[in-house]
Amino acid sequence: MKISTKAAIGAFALTMTGLPALAQDAENGATVFQRQCQNCHNVVDDSGEVLAGRPNMRTGPNLYGVIGRQAGVVEGFRYGADLVAAGAEAGLVWSEEAITTYVQDPRSYLQEVTGNNRARSQMAFQVRSESDAADVAAYLATFGAQEEPAG
Ligand code: HEC
Repeated sequence: MKISTKAAIGAFALTMTGLPALAQDAENGATVFQRQCQNCHNVVDDSGEVLAGRPNMRTGPNLYGVIGRQAGVVEGFRYGADLVAAGAEAGLVWSEEAITTYVQDPRSYLQEVTGNNRARSQMAFQVRSESDAADVAAYLATFGAQEEPAG
C-alpha cells in the first residue's frame, strides 16, 4: 500500500514538473527535511517569511533558493573555507543531483569537487538513504528555485 501511494505521488510530480526518469518524491522530502535538516537549517524567503523549519535557525545556512545558487554564498553565514572554495574556485552551483550526493557525505563531496583531499566540511551530518537524499533535494527545489544548472 505504501509503495503504491508513493509511486502515485511520484507519477504526479513527474507530470507536474516534467522531470526525467527517477521520480523524486518532494512530499517525502518534506518529512526528511523535518526529521534530518531543520535542526540546523531553515527556508526563509526574501521577505523574511519562514517557509520551512524554525525562525532564527543559524547553525546551517538558509536553504531558500539553493537550487541554482553558487555554493557558500549566503550573506552573513560563516561557512567553512572549503565549501566557499568549492563555489568560488571550483564553480560548484547547487543542482538537485549535487545536493543528493553532498548530503550523503559532505566531506567526501567537497574533497572531490575541490580536488583537495584534505578538504573539510562544517556540516556534521550525513543522510543515510540515497532516496531520502534525492527526495529532500526535490523538496528544496520547490522553494524559490532558479534555473536548474545543466549537469
Ligand atoms: C548538524 C547540523 C546540520 C544538519 C543536520 C544539516 N546540515 Fe546542511 N549544513 C550545515 C552547515 C554547518 C553547513 C555549512 C557547511 C560548511 O560551511 O562547510 C551546511 C551546508 C549545507 C548546504 C550548502 C548550502 C550553501 O549555501 O552552499 C546544503 C545544500 C545543505 N547543508 C543541505 C542540508 C540538508 C538537505 C540537510 C538534511 C538532509 C542538512 N543540510 C542537514 C549543517 C547541517
